[in-house]
Amino acid sequence: MTKDTLFLVVSDFALAIQSASAYPENHPRVQEILVRLHRRVQSEAKRLRGLNIGFFRDHVVVDEFPFVGLNPTLTRLIERMREKGIEKILFSEGITFGELKRFVYFLAAGTGSPSEQIWESIIYGRIEGAESIGVVSLGLAAASRPSEFLAGAEDVLKSVLTSMVAERKRSGVEEGRDIVSSIMKGLRQEGMLIDRLIRMQGHDDYTVTHSLNVCILVVAQASHIGLPENRVREAGLAALLHDIGKELIPPGLLTKRGQLNVDEFDLMKKHPAAGAKLLRKIDCGTELPMIVAFEHHIKYNRTGYPKVHTGEPLHVASYMTQIADVYDAMRTYRSYQSAFTVEQALSIMNGGRGTEFEPRLFDSFVELLS
Ligand SMILES: [Fe+2]
Ligand SMILES: [Fe+2]
Repeated sequence: MTKDTLFLVVSDFALAIQSASAYPENHPRVQEILVRLHRRVQSEAKRLRGLNIGFFRDHVVVDEFPFVGLNPTLTRLIERMREKGIEKILFSEGITFGELKRFVYFLAAGTGSPSEQIWESIIYGRIEGAESIGVVSLGLAAASRPSEFLAGAEDVLKSVLTSMVAERKRSGVEEGRDIVSSIMKGLRQEGMLIDRLIRMQGHDDYTVTHSLNVCILVVAQASHIGLPENRVREAGLAALLHDIGKELIPPGLLTKRGQLNVDEFDLMKKHPAAGAKLLRKIDCGTELPMIVAFEHHIKYNRTGYPKVHTGEPLHVASYMTQIADVYDAMRTYRSYQSAFTVEQALSIMNGGRGTEFEPRLFDSFVELLS
């Protein structure tokens, strides 16, 4: 099985880096893993005419197959790549044992990089501003992750959020409700509108913001599973406001290009609680926006953030928002050559069905998009 073979490649890659940092150089254990890894990388790079490994959030994507970092070695690999700012690695056909070994030791080194690193059969991309000889820029410096940034929000959405933050409470909420109501009205009046809205999500020059995208996708999901209209509207409003806590994250961080480092990511992790705190002070007519803001990065299996210690299920609107949130991020992600297609995004997300995502709602989402 192709997928199993690719999983072995990435597992051995993770294991080789881990062993290289734990054992002295040329220890037989490391050599043994490196020989096996080289054999696997070489044959897959030949078969696929180049072997691509990508790192996206807590997934490793090998060729087109996603793997969630469920075992500690894989999780550690994803973390290490995040620390190094590496988002993508390409191994070319004909990679030698020597070069692969040198690369593994380079990745295993705690900080910095050995000087005069020149790679012949390896290309890897890292964040802007990193200073390392031998790093080939894949154009990542010019990349941005617009979907995560409210800075790129459409005017109307900006005014909703700004007025809410400025505590001109009611008008902002009414405006948010109007947006959702008009979406609802459109959906009711014109069945095809939903298809058009969904197709609109992925245009390169899309004008819909991340929050509005997520709102639309949540309204669509909630309608699809047959929730009554008032609950659909509530869920839509909550989805629209899910990232409101990002208003409290320094703008420089929100607009930073490339991968966030560990400290920055820690700061970013505070936006759900910050959003809930903000929404607690605002009368939205429902507590749902506060709940969804708090819960939208907590996964179905309780990993993610913030950490919660209760076994209670999350709100259904949080599960739907989380699915829409990840989907939108993948459809607009620019650090790879291009955004993922619908099929790729769903295939990658399918790896998180039942762990990251509530399985029945995920199935319903897939059904909605197909
Ligand atoms: Fe978020
Ligand atoms: Fe989001």
